[in-house]
Amino acid sequence: MDLGLQNKVAVVTGASKGIGLATTRTLHDEGALVVAASRRSSPELDALAGERLVHVAVDLATPHGPDHAIAEAQRVFGGLDVLVNNAGGPPPGAVLPRFSFTGLTDADWFAMLDFNLMSTVRATRAAIPLLLGRGGGAIVNVSSTLAIAASGVNVDYGAAKAAVGNLTQALSEEFGPQGIRVNSVIPGPARTPWWTEDGGAADVFAAAAGTDRDTILDGKAAEMMQLTTGRLIEPQEVADAIVLLCSPRSASTTGSAVLVDAGQIKAV
Ligand SMILES: NC(=O)c1ccc[n+]([C@@H]2O[C@H](COP(=O)([O-])OP(=O)(O)OC[C@H]3O[C@@H](n4cnc5c(N)ncnc54)[C@H](OP(=O)(O)O)[C@@H]3O)[C@@H](O)[C@H]2O)c1
Repeated sequence: MDLGLQNKVAVVTGASKGIGLATTRTLHDEGALVVAASRRSSPELDALAGERLVHVAVDLATPHGPDHAIAEAQRVFGGLDVLVNNAGGPPPGAVLPRFSFTGLTDADWFAMLDFNLMSTVRATRAAIPLLLGRGGGAIVNVSSTLAIAASGVNVDYGAAKAAVGNLTQALSEEFGPQGIRVNSVIPGPARTPWWTEDGGAADVFAAAAGTDRDTILDGKAAEMMQLTTGRLIEPQEVADAIVLLCSPRSASTTGSAVLVDAGQIKAV
């Protein structure tokens, strides 16, 4: 299937690893021109970099980081057609999961909201004039199952992602008539560096469950989180849903929340 993304200009946030890297690579493979934003590059991103893909080093948790990423699309590629607001998860310095509301300070909450909500708000605010300048485009926001299935685990993260869901719907209403589609993808637990790195989520769960990282990654996490497929989600499986929503093949899909959750959400 031709996704119609040849020479479209895309910004992907949180692009050096995990879901963002898989999305960046897929957009690149589809012929898009990509600005890949993260604090640092990665060997995988370096391997893709060239005339059709540039890395921009920004801290998206800061007030001007997201604007800078969008400005790079205008500067390097002359405009913008697609924005993937993927950056999110633990804000700088935080380790997730955290198991209770108790103990979260105002500073914890603001850091979580800055990274998971305000980075999306700021990038979108900067992107909309450029998208309107092209007659429309697509925005895809990456949420989480915790946005729709509230839990005492990562309560601040779930609240921030729930706000992203509301924002997605509101933006789709306001800007749909002007040709901008806004959707979200809701991943369940995915096997990304957030989980696999030293001190990452698998290590935290392993310590809590009295087991080791590999046991968590290779079965225990799926069991604990009631994943119907019995395994964590691969980043590419989320990226494929994101890129389809970026594509004009999804021209009548806006204001949608697409689950890629391995069957975690049981509600009808
Ligand atoms: N993995 C999951 O289980 C899961 C489940 C549901 C939803 N999600 C959502 O999916 C999205 C991607 O998650 P992931 O698991 O792929 O994350 P990840 O593996 O931890 O990768 C995070 C990416 O964001 C970048 N990043 C982190 N802090 C940043 C900052 N302050 N400024 C700029 N870039 C920053 C990282 O690069 P640098 O560190 O170099 O900046 C990296 O490229 C997030 O929105 C997350 O909430 C993930």
